Amino acid sequence: MKSPIIAWTAAALAIGLQAPAHADTTLRMFVSSQGSPGIHRKIADLYEQRNPGIKIEIELGGATSELQAQYLNTVLSSRDPSLDVLILDIIRPAQFSAAGWISPLGDAAAAAPMLEDYIKAYADANTVDGKLVAMPAHADALLLYYRKDLLDKYGLPVPKTWTELAETARKILAGEGDPNLQGMSFQGKAIEGAVCTFLLPYWSAGHDLTKNGEFSFDKDGAVAAFNVWKSLVDEGIAKKNISEVGTDDTRREFQAGKAVFASLWGYGWSNFQGEDAAVRGKVGVATLPAVDGGKVVSCLGGWEWAVSAYSRHQEEAKKLVTFLSGAEATKIKAIEASYLPPRTALYTDPDVQNAMPWIESARAVVESAIPRPVTPRYNEVSEIIRTLFNAAIGGSMSPEDAAAQMDARLRRILR
Ligand code: GLC
Repeated sequence: MKSPIIAWTAAALAIGLQAPAHADTTLRMFVSSQGSPGIHRKIADLYEQRNPGIKIEIELGGATSELQAQYLNTVLSSRDPSLDVLILDIIRPAQFSAAGWISPLGDAAAAAPMLEDYIKAYADANTVDGKLVAMPAHADALLLYYRKDLLDKYGLPVPKTWTELAETARKILAGEGDPNLQGMSFQGKAIEGAVCTFLLPYWSAGHDLTKNGEFSFDKDGAVAAFNVWKSLVDEGIAKKNISEVGTDDTRREFQAGKAVFASLWGYGWSNFQGEDAAVRGKVGVATLPAVDGGKVVSCLGGWEWAVSAYSRHQEEAKKLVTFLSGAEATKIKAIEASYLPPRTALYTDPDVQNAMPWIESARAVVESAIPRPVTPRYNEVSEIIRTLFNAAIGGSMSPEDAAAQMDARLRRILR
């Protein structure tokens, strides 16, 4: 059997990712400002040291996935060559590839040995029509963060269902009597994260948006999913203004000790361990609860590196992408910024385990997490789900009306 390194190098060569760098090339790398963007500079510095003649400039995108997508849509639809390497949310490679905005990195079959090092969902999301169109940057899934100290204080176990979570939160809130403490923070704002918020209880109850390529929306299931979240608001467990709470609001609230539970992505962890975090040393991580009688699910997140089709430095950009998605860069991101690794071997790496003691259980969560629909029309799917979910939980539309509209509008796209 070939060693993984030899197999990887052979595959990388086969798809042309190992082309030599030319002197004095500046590569502009677009990254998300969510999480710990500083880590990208550190990795870029390392790359510059190893590759004389290459300079990397970093351009910080907006804090939310859809703000970044809007910006990239503008840049790429005007064929602007100023960006070379782009970080893309897992939901985007299909659309960007269909639009011709990102360069194929090679033939997926030739890259197969290399892709075996990654969690399968990422290899799948980055393969479009037999071509590899992006490489994994980091894995992600929605996780349940909880206040270990408060659960211990009241002798309560980590809740396994939404009903148990509500009961647990109620007991702790009553016991603490702190007006600044909320039971649960989650994303209700009409942003990409709200798509996942909606889908969690919907999927947990066994419903899908499509089945075997056919549209299979369940209206009653959608009403029930809205009500899981809405009841947390109505019962005073989540904030009244939940329809304005975005991803990083949840991170800030939980970090400041203002929430017992939070539904949030992997990047929360390193923030919660920071010197200035009120919750440092008091946080546990678990899978999100299921609906009563339902299955345990999470929403698959993650980010991918792609090369802009308009970059004037195609070979250099591809080589940089190989480095960014490689073992060294993804390990640094895991250890220093708790970005979940896309490479399976890192889940048993002692340094990564030391930085994230819950990492082995996170692998099971990521591997069983459900992807949002993979379609070039994902933007429309997202817009429908997030705005109607936001309206239903914010009270500007009844759950029944929101579900009926979701059904009618999604049907036109996913049919
Ligand atoms: C996280 C996930 C990404 C998701 C986004 C929503 O960054 O990794 O996939 O779309 O959050 O806010």
